[in-house]
Amino acid sequence: MEFINKLKAKAKENKKRIVLPEGLEERTLKAADTIIKEGFADIILIGNPDAIAKEADKFNLSHIQQAKIIDPQNHDKKEQYTQLLMDLRKSKGLTQEQAEKLVLNPLYLSTLMIKSGDADGEVAGAENSTGDVLRPAFQIVKTLPGIKVVSGAFIMILPDNEFGDNGMLVFADGAVHPNPTASELAEIAVVTGRTTKSIVGMEPRVAMLSFSTKGSAKHEMVDKVVEATRLAKEMDPHLKIDGELQADAAIVEAIGAKKAPDSEIAGKANVLVFPNLETGNICYKLVQRMAHAEAIGPVLQGMAAPINDLSRGCSVSDIVNLVAITANQAAGNV
Ligand code: ACO
Repeated sequence: MEFINKLKAKAKENKKRIVLPEGLEERTLKAADTIIKEGFADIILIGNPDAIAKEADKFNLSHIQQAKIIDPQNHDKKEQYTQLLMDLRKSKGLTQEQAEKLVLNPLYLSTLMIKSGDADGEVAGAENSTGDVLRPAFQIVKTLPGIKVVSGAFIMILPDNEFGDNGMLVFADGAVHPNPTASELAEIAVVTGRTTKSIVGMEPRVAMLSFSTKGSAKHEMVDKVVEATRLAKEMDPHLKIDGELQADAAIVEAIGAKKAPDSEIAGKANVLVFPNLETGNICYKLVQRMAHAEAIGPVLQGMAAPINDLSRGCSVSDIVNLVAITANQAAGNV
């Protein structure tokens, strides 16, 4: 976890304000306490201050009192945020009554704080579904200029060095966009290459995965991956990428050499781009469980401000690590 320690040290140099909307959730509170103690981000918790203090006492969390706490029912900017929400969503049919209700929802409140410049990033999802975390982020914070789809990358750390760069690989999309078109898949490949370079510090070698290697099978699903590979090369001519490749041809040198002898990626990939969310999500979870890999993420890519989503099965250290990544994204370090 050397790269996480480096990220924490970097985040300390330019501390950012990270909002944790699930302010009463046990793992979130314990993570917040650790982050404040380690001092690599300023923490904002959403929730009733008395209830948070009570929980912090229960778990002996002595640093929580240094967090900024925003009570969704009662704070100075309630009207301002309601107005901002109306400005952003009136054209989509949002009524004043709905906006007044939504602004009390910690997940909406957090994104409105980010949009208003009152927080720099968000980590949530310990108790809310991915869809519920992402919807307000998409509606309020939106994507970076030039990016149409947000996707989620997982940094996979395997217990041995056999695959990727010394056992490290990046998988995408494992979290967000169910059924990308060829051009959306190309965009996902390009931004995952950037995430790999900036967050993990690896030079990306991207494999566009399929059930076919270089024409071994014919199907419209294969055609999509072939087209996405072509478009990704057009979007970023410097990116090292190849497809379509089967998973074994992508990561096992001998099989890559046999099935795709002319490929500079086959057998050497350290970034695996899956054809859709079904395969990406299933594969990252299988590798995490069956190969005992550490899965860090999803690191959301393409959002205009860093908002990252946790798995509901996350541990305290998963939250701490994701806040370290988010703080670095907010500081523009990665
Ligand atoms: N990137 C950017 N914006 C998006 C994306 C995307 N990938 N998807 C939807 N949007 C935008 C839409 O343009 C729309 O914006 P608008 O309202 O301003 O026009 C807004 O988000 C809502 O769009 P809908 O199509 O109504 O989206 P919906 O709410 O139905 O779904 C969602 C979006 C929630 C992300 C959906 O795609 C989803 O549920 N994805 C799967 C998430 C998931 O369950 N992942 C697996 C678990 S994660 C894990 O295991 C760690």
